[in-house]
Amino acid sequence: MALTYSSYLKLDGLLAQQQPLSDGPEHDEMLFIVIHQVYELWFKQLLHELKEVQRLLAKDDLHSSLSRLKRMLTILKTVVGQVDILETMTPLQFNSFRTRLESSSGFQSMQFREMEFRVGHRGPELVARYPEGSEERRYLEPLLKEPSLYDSFLHFLAARGYAIPESVLKRDISLPNPESAEVRMALMKVYHESPELTQLCERLVDLDEGIQEWRYRHVKMVERTIGMKKGTGGSAGVDYLKRTLFRAVFPDLWSVRGEF
Ligand code: HEM
Repeated sequence: MALTYSSYLKLDGLLAQQQPLSDGPEHDEMLFIVIHQVYELWFKQLLHELKEVQRLLAKDDLHSSLSRLKRMLTILKTVVGQVDILETMTPLQFNSFRTRLESSSGFQSMQFREMEFRVGHRGPELVARYPEGSEERRYLEPLLKEPSLYDSFLHFLAARGYAIPESVLKRDISLPNPESAEVRMALMKVYHESPELTQLCERLVDLDEGIQEWRYRHVKMVERTIGMKKGTGGSAGVDYLKRTLFRAVFPDLWSVRGEF
């Protein structure tokens, strides 16, 4: 049979996946399902690009890694903008099906956690909050053995001759991205002498800021939809989410700005 638009994209399967649980069903549950599925698809693409950026940095291919990063940032802007769509749903509309969600929550999004881990917001304690033997633990634990995007960046700089200390290059990569005065010195040199590499640093700051922007838009959307109620995932809700705000994932790329 000839390939068609529908068979190539497997639309029969894809479009059969939006199945509201509410009786009726409630009109607004469709939006809730579609938007989460769209987010998961974008997370998939972001992870695909992120791994490629790491591969390209390891090959010293600056230009291709910059173009992949640019794509990631464009997706991230789109993903942040999509919060507007969810904000067309009133608290009452959400309440009409919320109980159907039981204890499920975006909190359990493994692709979101994978993104956090791959950029470098990671640590054994973040894996330990999932029960031993659980699907989440099996998914996340091996990621701690892979270098974060920031590690790839530091190795790339070291290969270009910048003085990144061995203690940082050989660090325990299961831990969050390091902070180091020597790395900040190297970054200052980069900013002073290389407009090309400055672009790479700035795109990473864009990425960090973009993730923080998503967190902010998400928490305000949550606040206007459920106020100070607890989350379906069992957290304190808005109070929990607020604690995740303004958390830099590449701290040295921020703090170096105060040293120029
Ligand atoms: C009406 C819409 C939404 C509400 C009311 C809502 C509510 C919440 C709440 C209360 C939490 C805290 C964990 C919990 O106790 O459940 C949370 C976490 C989270 N949500 Fe949402 N959410 C909504 C939409 C979305 C969408 C569209 C996404 C996209 C995938 C998403 C992704 C996440 C993620 C990744 C977390 C974990 C954040 C972290 O731990 O840093 N949420 N959400």
